[in-house]
Amino acid sequence: MAVRLFEGRDHAAAYCRYRVTPCELIDTIVSYVEKKTPNQCNLAVDVGCGSGQGTILLAPHFTKVVGTDVSPAQLEMALTNENPPNVSYRECPAETLPFACGEVDLVSAFAAAHWFDREKFLLEVDRVLRPGGCLALLSYSMDMELEYGDVPDTTLNGICKEFYTALLPFRHPHLGTSSSDIYSAMFDSCPYPDKEWTGSLKVKRSLPLSGYIGMVETFSSFQGLLQKDPSRAERLSDDTKNKLMSAMKVSSPETEVTVIVKFFYWLARKPL
Ligand SMILES: C[S@@+](CC[C@H](N)C(=O)[O-])C[C@H]1O[C@@H](n2cnc3c(N)ncnc32)[C@H](O)[C@@H]1O
Repeated sequence: MAVRLFEGRDHAAAYCRYRVTPCELIDTIVSYVEKKTPNQCNLAVDVGCGSGQGTILLAPHFTKVVGTDVSPAQLEMALTNENPPNVSYRECPAETLPFACGEVDLVSAFAAAHWFDREKFLLEVDRVLRPGGCLALLSYSMDMELEYGDVPDTTLNGICKEFYTALLPFRHPHLGTSSSDIYSAMFDSCPYPDKEWTGSLKVKRSLPLSGYIGMVETFSSFQGLLQKDPSRAERLSDDTKNKLMSAMKVSSPETEVTVIVKFFYWLARKPL
């Protein structure tokens, strides 16, 4: 079953501002493609591209990159990027991609594949990939951690954990308790023998505290609460921000913190 979310304009704008696809992981994907099929980097398709942050990072490595998404609001945001000339976008479901059989060298999905219909998507990937073409799916868990100066990590992360716990009841039922389980199940059902799973890769980012809060606010669970009870959602965010600032002994939410994001991903190559 495919799930339609991320359709609101405000959500798309927040997405564009706060979500980051790490260059380290793009490098890993590109190295994998180059190792598996040297000199075959013509067409990459970034499915569920959202506002295109990951899509444009693929641009230097492929002749052509197409970002696809079901959400017109997200694609509208993607078009406001400084898109390199070899990047374009298409509105379509992940399960019905507008490409000919065997036309694509890389299919990627960044923080999106957990929303797709697993079976239909994997069949569609197999249809559009050329023999030897690659698939790269990555995402991250919600339980990001914070570091700031000498403040014990346990203090900051205790506050973050309270934030995540308050959002748990608003998590979309499709996600179950862990989105990593969805990726792991997808990995198991991918029929390609040449595939690798990486369960945990911590990526550190320096961000203003407000950026960390903004990132959590883009999660579907926060959006669920926002829809049900906007003032409660706002209070929860503000309380968390104030508790963190007080623990950090700072007065500005623009104070830079280190955010640790826990990624998981898998890569596979279609047999020749
Ligand atoms: C969490 S966002 C990720 C966006 C972007 N890839 C990133 O890294 O930030 C998930 C995106 O997947 C899209 N999406 C969800 N289900 C989809 C489907 N079945 N087909 C195509 N796109 C879908 C949503 O519209 C949304 O833009």
